[in-house]
Amino acid sequence: MSFLSKHAFIERNATLLLILSLITVLIGGIVEIVPLFYVKNTIEKVEGIRPYTPLELAGRNIYIREGCYLCHSQMIRPFRDEVERYGHYSLAAESMYDHPFQWGSKRTGPDLARVGGRYSDEWHVQHLIKPQNVVPESIMPSYGFLASTPINTKGFEDHLKANRAVGVPYSDEMIENAVTDLRAQADPDADTSGLEERYQNVTIRKFNSESSELTEMDALVAYLQMLGTLVDLEAYKQNESLR
Ligand code: HEC
Repeated sequence: MSFLSKHAFIERNATLLLILSLITVLIGGIVEIVPLFYVKNTIEKVEGIRPYTPLELAGRNIYIREGCYLCHSQMIRPFRDEVERYGHYSLAAESMYDHPFQWGSKRTGPDLARVGGRYSDEWHVQHLIKPQNVVPESIMPSYGFLASTPINTKGFEDHLKANRAVGVPYSDEMIENAVTDLRAQADPDADTSGLEERYQNVTIRKFNSESSELTEMDALVAYLQMLGTLVDLEAYKQNESLR
């Protein structure tokens, strides 16, 4: 019996064909899945990634609450056109502390994964108050109320605790000092030594010049100005080329 006629025998026996198909799929599945059990981590470790400061986390909460993700992505894909426009493609580690992640699925506006440091705080504040003030043809809605809405810091420790429950390494000290740290980051006159010790590379300044109070605008701009700035990409590229 040639190979082909043996195969014809299998194809004429529905039960045998089903059993052999299942065995084939099973082997394929095992080959694909088993190696994953031996990989400790699918996220490449990179220098500089740290949990969000309380003020940045508050900003992130506002970003989610206002639905910014409906028009903006935070995921630069490794294509030439994207990299030329937005900068180095996003690394998995850069969203490892995002719960939920903000990759987005639609770009009505530009990707924001590396918007940090691209504009001044004042630009962001004016843009959020009325986008058409700085980009006349913009179709982005205005979020002026953020500039005068005080941040609700009551029980803010719980936001850090919730993040810790899903794997963000907030220490007890970070949780205890959440509200102090939140206020200190937007207040250059405050004692910020604790904040700087707990969070590397933290930017401390008053982000919203429209109000002397601590507003939601401060938090949102602190968050936007940090996006994509934690990793030293020049060092990362060097390492990558050495590998
Ligand atoms: C209805 C869609 C829409 C929503 C919702 C929206 N945006 Fe935008 N956004 C745009 C568009 C379109 C642009 C490009 C024009 C401009 O700069 O205003 C833009 C531009 C921006 C820019 C400038 C990016 C760059 O690289 O020039 C930032 C920052 C920004 N948006 C932040 C936000 C934040 C924060 C929110 C939520 C509070 C938000 N957007 C909500 C549509 C939107």
